[in-house]
Amino acid sequence: MQAAPAPVGGRTVLLIVCGGIAAYKTLELIRLLTGAGLRVRTVLTAAGKQFVTPLSLQALTGEKVYEDLFSLTDENEMGHIALSRSGDLLVVCPATADIMARMAAGLADDLASTLLLATDKPVLIAPAMNVRMWDHPATQANLATLRARGVMVVGPEIGLMACNETGPGRLAEPPVIAEAIFHHLPGPAPVVPATGPLAGRHALVTAGPTHEPIDPVRYLANRSSGRQGYEVAQALAALGARVTLVSGPVDLPPPKGITLRRVETARQMLAACRDALPCDIAVCAAAVADWHVAAEATSKIKKTAGAPPPALTLVPNPDILAELSAPGANRPALVIGFAAETDTVAQHAAAKRLAKGCDWIVANDVRPETGIMGGMENEIVLITGEGAEQWPRMGKQDVATHLADRIATFFTPDFSSGRSIS
Ligand SMILES: Cc1cc2nc3c(=O)[nH]c(=O)nc-3n(C[C@H](O)[C@H](O)[C@H](O)COP(=O)(O)O)c2cc1C
Repeated sequence: MQAAPAPVGGRTVLLIVCGGIAAYKTLELIRLLTGAGLRVRTVLTAAGKQFVTPLSLQALTGEKVYEDLFSLTDENEMGHIALSRSGDLLVVCPATADIMARMAAGLADDLASTLLLATDKPVLIAPAMNVRMWDHPATQANLATLRARGVMVVGPEIGLMACNETGPGRLAEPPVIAEAIFHHLPGPAPVVPATGPLAGRHALVTAGPTHEPIDPVRYLANRSSGRQGYEVAQALAALGARVTLVSGPVDLPPPKGITLRRVETARQMLAACRDALPCDIAVCAAAVADWHVAAEATSKIKKTAGAPPPALTLVPNPDILAELSAPGANRPALVIGFAAETDTVAQHAAAKRLAKGCDWIVANDVRPETGIMGGMENEIVLITGEGAEQWPRMGKQDVATHLADRIATFFTPDFSSGRSIS
């Protein structure tokens, strides 16, 4: 049996492997987790055992595999209640429709469900199942119940599945699940040895709005949530890139394993981007204000009865995308801009690509009725030198994952994640 590496800060993941066809991918997940110095203890359901063997799990984790609720020896060595609390994070991967239903119903009819009911630790599930099982109102209701109780969810992704149907239901890729585990694990992020197609590359990502002050209490802003840029940063890191995220003011938790530079104004964002150079990849997802107030008041502008409202003179902000795209020794090999448009989206975005000199543009339609700006989903047109590609509407995390795959393919043409955009 292979010895487990010394755990980082004594942190342990209790990994529950269920009976889905994607169970074999947990073996790669375990490798990623133990490679980051985490201790992994596994629980295998009876159905899970049909897909992976206890021997494989034991060999990869260097730990005993727990299978039976009524095992006299296990109960004697570590009771099921103690086991349920022995991990800092419980991860169910793959999470079957069945375990989600049993979790939502509060059943405790085998070791896995009993641990999930008895635990006082955070729980992350990585669902994987046939698209009809996923779309079924029962599964969606169970998912909503679990989310409402604080269970965290990674994936599923959209793509071709083992059953030859396409749609949502594919297990998220192991690096993406590992990243979610690192993110949700209490304590500092594990130091992950960079692996993946973007290992050794530095990516600069900008995200969020900018705030352009009028006076010490008022500012000009926009509705950007920063979510798309944060997801892109996570997806690039999951493929091994070292990521610097320059973020305007947003209401999002700081991503783990990523260098975060917080800024307020466009001028500060440009300075932080310049500091981050050199880099191989620049993804400018921030909704940078076009203008700032020419003469920012140093004290609050008072409303005086009878006096006209103050006139604001606006002056252009620096063009961060154009500056990063300009030829020069420090120009990243791949510069990607985002274009938020409200009409003739693809045409405006194609013109923006040429005007700014960037390599690709991710264009999205931000008319209020699309719900994209500030929302959880996105529908994009990717414009490259080869033409325009319309992607179907999908979650911002999925857009980020597919964009990161395309970036990886740019640097390593034979790279394929196996994910398809359907
Ligand atoms: C070949 C095969 C593949 C399966 N794949 C999945 C799957 O990907 N997702 C799923 O939810 N159930 C899948 N099932 C059904 C589960 O194995 C079944 O619901 C089982 O009761 C799950 O038990 P567990 O949740 O305790 O692991 C599959 C069944 C078979 C026979």
